[in-house]
Amino acid sequence: MDHWWVVCVITTMVLLAPIIILGRKRRLRTKAGNRTHLPLGTLGWPFIGETLEFISCAYTARPESFMDKRRVKYGKVFKSHIFGSPTIVSTDAEVSRFVLQSDAKVFVPSYPRSLTELMGKSSILLINGSLQRRVHGLIGAFFKSPSLKTQITQDMQKYVQESMESWEDDQLVYLQDQTKNIAFQILVKALISLDPGEEMEFLKHQFQEFIAGLMSLPINLPGTRLYKSLKAKKRMVKLVHKIIQERRTNNMARAPRDVLDVLLNDASEQLTDDLLSDNMIDLMIPGEDSVPVLMTLAVKFLSDCPLALQHLMEENMKLKRRKHELEEPLCWGDYMSLTFTQNVITETLRMGNIIIGIMRKAMKDVNIKGYMIPKGWCVFTYFRSVHLDEQLYEEPYKFNPWRWQETDMGTSNFTPFGGGQRLCPGLDLARLETCIFLHHFVTQFSWEAEEDSIVNFPTVRMKRRMPIRVKRRWDPPFPSASL
Ligand code: HEM
Repeated sequence: MDHWWVVCVITTMVLLAPIIILGRKRRLRTKAGNRTHLPLGTLGWPFIGETLEFISCAYTARPESFMDKRRVKYGKVFKSHIFGSPTIVSTDAEVSRFVLQSDAKVFVPSYPRSLTELMGKSSILLINGSLQRRVHGLIGAFFKSPSLKTQITQDMQKYVQESMESWEDDQLVYLQDQTKNIAFQILVKALISLDPGEEMEFLKHQFQEFIAGLMSLPINLPGTRLYKSLKAKKRMVKLVHKIIQERRTNNMARAPRDVLDVLLNDASEQLTDDLLSDNMIDLMIPGEDSVPVLMTLAVKFLSDCPLALQHLMEENMKLKRRKHELEEPLCWGDYMSLTFTQNVITETLRMGNIIIGIMRKAMKDVNIKGYMIPKGWCVFTYFRSVHLDEQLYEEPYKFNPWRWQETDMGTSNFTPFGGGQRLCPGLDLARLETCIFLHHFVTQFSWEAEEDSIVNFPTVRMKRRMPIRVKRRWDPPFPSASL
């Protein structure tokens, strides 16, 4: 009898499915038709929409070709249907700025399900309102503090030096791996004060397992990628919980030495242990991904532009010589004063588009610049098209750090770190770390880059992990003053 019930239900579902799908599509069309200002565009196929075309473009060297084709047809803002949701794609800097500036009553973050499951509900990337502002403010203020920058500078110099000391002439170095190792250790130290050692190795290993699932199928069953990643996260959370307990037991009032201290010292009682440990782990992602990729891409672009490399080397050698003569170690202010090196980093951010764009979901009908964004739809602010727009940047595909001598980077035409209430709180840190790395690298080594190419999807990285053959520039004419 039970068996017949199952057969009946399945048969009914199979018969009804096409009607539901067609009905949904018609509803979307009707909704679109009613709104005179809904951007032009097409929603593609039922369910998959235009996702397959988006992905096939994303894997090429020009992922923006998906956008370019539609920009010509429909304008800078158009409608589409990607990753399971009707979506307004914005390649218009002003529209994107409005979206980023809006609060959670208007737009909330929207991420793929595998990512939200792995991050956990209390991740800063997913929380909204006063709690997000509080956590963002605490983290941002700490990352901006001179004491942290001093500590990061010392640690970074130490780790970079340790890593480079082992490089021998003509050795093949995989730069992406090296930078990942350095940046991960730096961030973990800034977050929970863990030094290199057994626990760091454990964390590194678990983190690899965790991050592999961020863009996986959202199926949490034994054996699946998501399942393994969630297990790895659990093991990391256990370690962070242990550190939290130790600190709570010791309960010593002291100046915060890492992000965990900053959040533990917060008196608001909104910050539970689960929120703390979830966020400590999520905050490691830029250490393993965005920052090392920024360093690697800078070296990639410099390898392809000898003039910029020469200029950068001269600027850094000048600083190194001056500090040696003064017998002073380099401090973070010295690195930030390297104008051309900073311009190289800015240009790398523009061309590299490490975060291609940001997804938000509309909480109500929104009208921006005459475009209607219906409640429940997603908006994809696609930074890459803005950063490579020839109306905004002359010869946009040319690596030209000199352009930043005249260009203002504080405009909505340049948003590698997002904007508004969720503007990346780690942006100073990312620049500082990259600057320190470049300084030590170019003043000590020349290199020949082997053939490699940039992969843009699902995350930006070098296909072959950026193999380079290094040569020590000289037996240093003066001892490193930086340590
Ligand atoms: C090249 C390096 C980096 C890039 C390109 C980058 C980019 C971004 C972008 C575009 C956002 C905005 C996300 C949104 O609006 O939803 C963001 C947010 C964030 N970033 Fe970064 N980031 C980098 C490095 C870092 C570092 C080193 C940290 C430090 C741990 C960090 C921590 C965060 C946090 C906590 C947020 C979320 C802020 C919030 O939602 O309130 N990022 N980042």
